[in-house]
Amino acid sequence: MTDNQLAIVILAAGQGTRMKSSLPKVLHRIGGRSLVGHVLDTAARLHPADTVVVVRHERDLVVAEVTDASPTARIVDQDETPGTGRAVQQALEALAGFGGDVLVLSGDVPLLEASTLAELLNAHRGSGAAATVLSATVDDPHGYGRVVRGADGGVQRIVEQKDAAAHEAAICEINAGVYVFRIDALRAELPAVGTDNAQGEMYLTDVVALLCARHEPVQALPAPDAAAALGVNDRVQLSEAARVLNARTVRRWQLDGATIMDPATTWIDVTATLAPDVTVLPNTHILRATTVAEGAVVGPDTSLVDCEVGERAVVRRTDATLAVIGADANVGPFAYLRPGTQLADGGKIGTFVETKNATIGAGSKVPHLSYIGDTTIGRGVNLGAGAITANYDDLTKHRTEIGDEVHTGSHNVFVAPVRIGDGAKTGAGAVVRKDVPAGALALSVAPQRNIEGWVEKNRPGTKAADVAARARSAQKAGDEPQGQEG
Ligand code: UD1
Ligand code: CA
Repeated sequence: MTDNQLAIVILAAGQGTRMKSSLPKVLHRIGGRSLVGHVLDTAARLHPADTVVVVRHERDLVVAEVTDASPTARIVDQDETPGTGRAVQQALEALAGFGGDVLVLSGDVPLLEASTLAELLNAHRGSGAAATVLSATVDDPHGYGRVVRGADGGVQRIVEQKDAAAHEAAICEINAGVYVFRIDALRAELPAVGTDNAQGEMYLTDVVALLCARHEPVQALPAPDAAAALGVNDRVQLSEAARVLNARTVRRWQLDGATIMDPATTWIDVTATLAPDVTVLPNTHILRATTVAEGAVVGPDTSLVDCEVGERAVVRRTDATLAVIGADANVGPFAYLRPGTQLADGGKIGTFVETKNATIGAGSKVPHLSYIGDTTIGRGVNLGAGAITANYDDLTKHRTEIGDEVHTGSHNVFVAPVRIGDGAKTGAGAVVRKDVPAGALALSVAPQRNIEGWVEKNRPGTKAADVAARARSAQKAGDEPQGQEG
């Protein structure tokens, strides 16, 4: 149910200078989602009546991401006056007529959970405060705004890092950049916020002191989990946020019944899903929309992007994108599954095998050293080691079609377009250029011819010629009939 008294403003207009990136800061990704995407996702869980996102730097890129993540969010463009205060002021113009509470979120604070924000909102509404600030007590407050409290413990103001006197910089209670305001109180104070500070910006945080001066009650609520208040301003904090988020994701799947042997080296996107009794071995990345079904074993050293792994499948040391791996199938070690790979139940893609746009039927095996592209393989097939589909003739890609129960010899090349009929076989080293009828044996290699003594004649004086000569004379002696005793 929509909370009609709640509007959410998300600040995403800043450049993020400290990221030193051509990509706007809020579009950097952790856990498979942009920073602003995480904030939008959390915001939606509070069912606000309205969501407004303030943009400016690379606005088209940011707008595209916001619209994709949350089609109902409204966009507000910030003008050239810099600062979080100006950003909120312009958002409020878009909220004319709204009379409830405004929750302000920073697009670069991605880890806060909806439950924490709901508590903040409840505390705010229960207290009758004009503003409730989410704070956090941290070991290293450097870079954050500090919450300055008076002798009575009440909040007096927030001072930014760059404006803080030494005794203020020593405060470890920081502003998380997340606040609830009574919208009328916020509207009343924002015009009084100036730019006379170290950064020459309109600070939203100055509203706190302005409200206190009017004896409007302001409170700060410490977040239950300080790590969740982490703001991402540089790449160090980006990786730290990614780590915290990943630890949370791993733990959630563990509590849901997945065995994850090494959380520190297992990376799971927030968009992936793991069934109970999945086992994930070290150094494994389970990314984007990947799903892993019950009893499957994934890893070690495996990366799955948008893949579907079936029940009890085993996927070892594999790199796969947009691939479907059937139940009880076996993949790797050292397999490379490119988009469009579909391995049916009980199938195998083995060692040093690359596949692309390949449908491999139930129980069929491509065990060793192969490239299989643009191919359909039936059921119960076994391709010999070193099978290559030559799918590209410099102009177009062609398909190879292999029927059911086909067994091919080692080191075959299938020159597409070509079809191998059901139950057919091919000899070792065959270059299959023509269709093979069902049940036929295709041989394309000329019978072997041995030219006796070739090495001794053509490579005299080499080591090969010496050992060949010795072997041949020993052979001859052995072949000669033994002397007969009369
Ligand atoms: C801000 C707070 C600081 C708090 C910290 C928490 C202010 C003045 N300071 O500092 O007290 O401890 O967040 O992480 O608010 N933005 C705009 N328009 C602008 C400037 C920024 O929309 O003109 C957006 C940014 O895109 C970002 C957010 O506001 O998402 C915060 O801006 P940032 O410059 O990162 O502020 P901090 O210095 O981190
Ligand atoms: Ca920040």
